[in-house]
Amino acid sequence: MPEYETHRYDVIVIGAGGAGLRAAIEARARGLRTALVCKSLLGKAHTVMAEGGVAAAMGNVYSEDNWQVHFRDTMRGGKYLNNWRMAQLHAQEAPDRVYELESWGALFDRTKDGRILQRDFGGHRYARLAHVGDRTGLELIRTLQQRAVHMDIDVFMECKVLRLLTDGDGAVSGAIGYWRPTGDMVVFESKATVLATGSIGRSYTYTSNSWESTGDGHAMAMWAGADVIEMECVQFHPTGMVWPLSVRGLLVTEGVRGDGGALKNSEDRRFMFDYIPEMFRAETADTEEEADAWYEDHINYRRTPDLLPRDEVARAINSEVKAGRGSPHGGVYLDIASRRSPEYIRRRLPSMYHQFMELAGVDITSEPMEVGPTCHYMMGGVRVDADTEASTVPGLFAAGEVAGGMHGANRLGGNSLSDLLVFGRRAGIGASDYAEGRSGEPSVSPAEIEEVVADALSPFGRDGGENPYDIHQDLQSCMQALVGIIRTGSELEQALEKLEELKERTGKVSVSGGRAYNPGWNLATDLPSMLTVSTAIAQGALHRKESRGGHTRDDYPGPDPELGKVNFVQRQNAQRGYAAPVQITPEPLPQMPAELQALLEEGH
Ligand code: FUM
Repeated sequence: MPEYETHRYDVIVIGAGGAGLRAAIEARARGLRTALVCKSLLGKAHTVMAEGGVAAAMGNVYSEDNWQVHFRDTMRGGKYLNNWRMAQLHAQEAPDRVYELESWGALFDRTKDGRILQRDFGGHRYARLAHVGDRTGLELIRTLQQRAVHMDIDVFMECKVLRLLTDGDGAVSGAIGYWRPTGDMVVFESKATVLATGSIGRSYTYTSNSWESTGDGHAMAMWAGADVIEMECVQFHPTGMVWPLSVRGLLVTEGVRGDGGALKNSEDRRFMFDYIPEMFRAETADTEEEADAWYEDHINYRRTPDLLPRDEVARAINSEVKAGRGSPHGGVYLDIASRRSPEYIRRRLPSMYHQFMELAGVDITSEPMEVGPTCHYMMGGVRVDADTEASTVPGLFAAGEVAGGMHGANRLGGNSLSDLLVFGRRAGIGASDYAEGRSGEPSVSPAEIEEVVADALSPFGRDGGENPYDIHQDLQSCMQALVGIIRTGSELEQALEKLEELKERTGKVSVSGGRAYNPGWNLATDLPSMLTVSTAIAQGALHRKESRGGHTRDDYPGPDPELGKVNFVQRQNAQRGYAAPVQITPEPLPQMPAELQALLEEGH
């Protein structure tokens, strides 16, 4: 076997968004030899797309807020498919994580009396999002990165991880990848491995996700034999840009609606009043006057329907467009210009102002924005133990978007930044404990390494094969059209057939040129992850014969109480890899303790 560059650590963390950084900080603080490996440059992660804020019941704006209400909101938003223990830990620990971030240098906006300011967001009973204008994710990354680089954590940037490696007994013992600048292979041996690889959005045509979000962690976990759950639950954020086409899908923060923005159709009507679901009726204003009074004084507790949870708002926009009441470019209007002063808009939403001005030539202080749903977030992911983030495979941990369970069928805005702080830290502790308890140095199988290398380099050995860009485009069209915001059984079956065809074509892909910074080859190595994840999404969606949260079936328009009691668990059995079949089984949700159940029922 050729000699490959090899590094040995106690803990490696794959992915350097908020969850990865937070996990690495924790492992290193425990004195473990820690490495952070990322596909892109450090500081560039989808975390920055959580613009509007980090949700934490600190009670700075409403003293009535507390973890119990945050827990209830999260469970209701997730349509009760959430792992209750994760939702509990998240609600209890988020405030400490925000204060910790502040002590590490994060510069949050302030209340008049100097406390951390909190803004309104969809599905949150109280103004709860600590924020830095509309650049909260960026500030969070900046702060964590600053801390990490002073902690003697080794950072491997522009390194694409291809596969997890196992020892003879099936425990994960490291990973193999290649340097994007050279194409040379690199092996990491580790006692514990944390996946923090983020999202899957690049399998869809319109997404807020950047090029890194190809579901590598979800797929690698499955190839290592780990369980994934709730893969059918993909979040379409209601407001992405729809025009110009070159930036379609780019996020328009929910902070616009949190700060007073209203959704309108082509008839200039605030259509969200027509889409208030029974579950939220009691607490949602049903007239414009009532909603606007809430915006003015926040004393009336009935909130505007513009701030219903994301699944509700995305479906409503979809229906308006379908009914012919959309904007010229296939979205609806989001109006803040007629509701807030130009000075207020520029101060509270500087990135949105700049984004629309530069990219669309639209001045949002005087004109409405055109917006529509965009694939934004993956609720489904690696099944983990709530307290330690251990997956079902020894040695493997997962945190942030690659982990499933926390958000159920739909995530509330702002709950991702708090998720990655709470569970990034817990994964760092879980992985450290595991590494400290694992005897000897990790060993990886040379045969496994050779197989991965041969597979990754095979596109160079073919002439005139399939073009990876064609396959990617066909995959995106398939997922957008057949596994998108509204699904039907027959479309999902078509999608699964199409995905099998795409897998066959991927086996014949060819690329030319060298290995250094070769985007065609890089994409060819991303396709297996995207195909594995897309198959799991379509298969999960076919089995969940109901509508719940981000998963909407036109042929099963309502929730099914029986299906509300199960997770669909998917795994690959003996055979692994993107071409291998995925097994799916419904398994009962963990039993919630009576005192937490009571919180949901009391309606707090
Ligand atoms: O709309 C936003 O600012 C996104 C926030 C989030 O996804 O949590």
